[in-house]
Amino acid sequence: MAICFVSSKPNPLGPAVAAVAGSNRAISRPRSLTLQSNRPNAIFSSAVSQHGGASSPRSFTARCSLVSRPEYFPSHISDPGYVRIFDTTLRDGEQSPGATMTSNEKLATAHLLSCLGVDIIEAGFPASSPDDLEAVRSIAIEVGNKPAEDGHLPVICGLARCNKKDIDAAWEAVRHARRPRVHTFIATSEIHMHHKLRKSREEVVRIAREMVGYAKSLGCQDIEFSPEDAGRSDHEFLYHVLEEVIKAGATTLNIPDTVGYTLPDEFGQLISDIKTNTKGIENVVISTHCQNDLGLATANTLAGARAGARQLEVTVNGIGERAGNASLEEVVMAIRCRNQILEGLHTGINTKYIHSASKMVAEYSGLNVQPHKAIVGANAFAHESGIHQDGMLKFKGTYEIISPDDIGLFRSNESGIVLGKLSGRHALKSKLTELGYDISGKELDDIFKRFKDIAEKKKACN
Ligand code: KIV
Repeated sequence: MAICFVSSKPNPLGPAVAAVAGSNRAISRPRSLTLQSNRPNAIFSSAVSQHGGASSPRSFTARCSLVSRPEYFPSHISDPGYVRIFDTTLRDGEQSPGATMTSNEKLATAHLLSCLGVDIIEAGFPASSPDDLEAVRSIAIEVGNKPAEDGHLPVICGLARCNKKDIDAAWEAVRHARRPRVHTFIATSEIHMHHKLRKSREEVVRIAREMVGYAKSLGCQDIEFSPEDAGRSDHEFLYHVLEEVIKAGATTLNIPDTVGYTLPDEFGQLISDIKTNTKGIENVVISTHCQNDLGLATANTLAGARAGARQLEVTVNGIGERAGNASLEEVVMAIRCRNQILEGLHTGINTKYIHSASKMVAEYSGLNVQPHKAIVGANAFAHESGIHQDGMLKFKGTYEIISPDDIGLFRSNESGIVLGKLSGRHALKSKLTELGYDISGKELDDIFKRFKDIAEKKKACN
């Protein structure tokens, strides 16, 4: 078995691991996955006073309190600052070239996403294959009926194009969950309507309205609608389509920047214009779905949240079509770290599971995380240059705005020091102390010189 847990404490990932046990792919892969267990009541954030970004008394208080999550109603969020996290790792993420997961891997990931506290799990695209329908159905049955340790029960969502066959498949897959959602979409940009759909504006509006109504007629009370390629759609037309689907019963309106084309100000303005100009918008939740083609997915998502979106669509490690999606860890940690500038926005994510989720998704999708990836990259909490190491040894807030244990990463080396040719005497001394050697003065000078000689030739000296 390629999975080991580094803790003797009760393991919150029990169900996820049980599900993985049946996965041939996980067993046959040589790479090993080490998941570190979190504290039993990990919903409490740790107080890390040495980290500048989060060390002010105000943020300290906020971070030590229980994550509060308002009661779930599809079309309304009672807490104006609460932002729903919609995870689409298992749908858009799985659409990354080469990232297909087995049903067992999808189920294990869904269990972990539930522990992580995501509000909505988009589990797949049931009409795409009988296997995907089955995978979504088992997630709906198992994850969608089993509250996580803290009582949280995620919504289970299935994607459908705007046609009856897709909507039937999505509803058949998700209806077993206590909170089922159907997410249906049709393109609204001229370029997509003309070249791909070959349909007029009137036809698109009619289909959107009828298919949202159709999902409702099946008994679905939680319906998300996306005007695909909204980022390049005509605004007036967009308001019109959105008004029609609200009347037909949509409860969440998702605004996708499908090709990652918009800039943050522009995307924020789009959300704000939709809020101002769409009749009935106050009765639904506005959502964002930002692709990363220009590397702006996280920035656009945050701009959307600032403009009033209260559901953000993201994936673990930012995987997804082409250049990927807004990454869950970046969006969630930005909201948490810059909470004051973001006017008190907050999520229900238990960030202690971020590191485990990142490892699991990388393992199952086969998509490795680049070392310098924000939050979850191997270097995100590592320091090699002498100046930085000296700062870190004196006060961690000098070079870290987040504490690694906030994302469930427990460094073997407290200060994240990596010895290399740029390291200084202070870091070497600290490493020697860690190894049990109390060395100073001339002896330290001598070792430091020999260390530098080796470091010139080797990449790392740990
Ligand atoms: O990128 C996109 O437009 C989508 C929609 C289905 C939300 O994935």
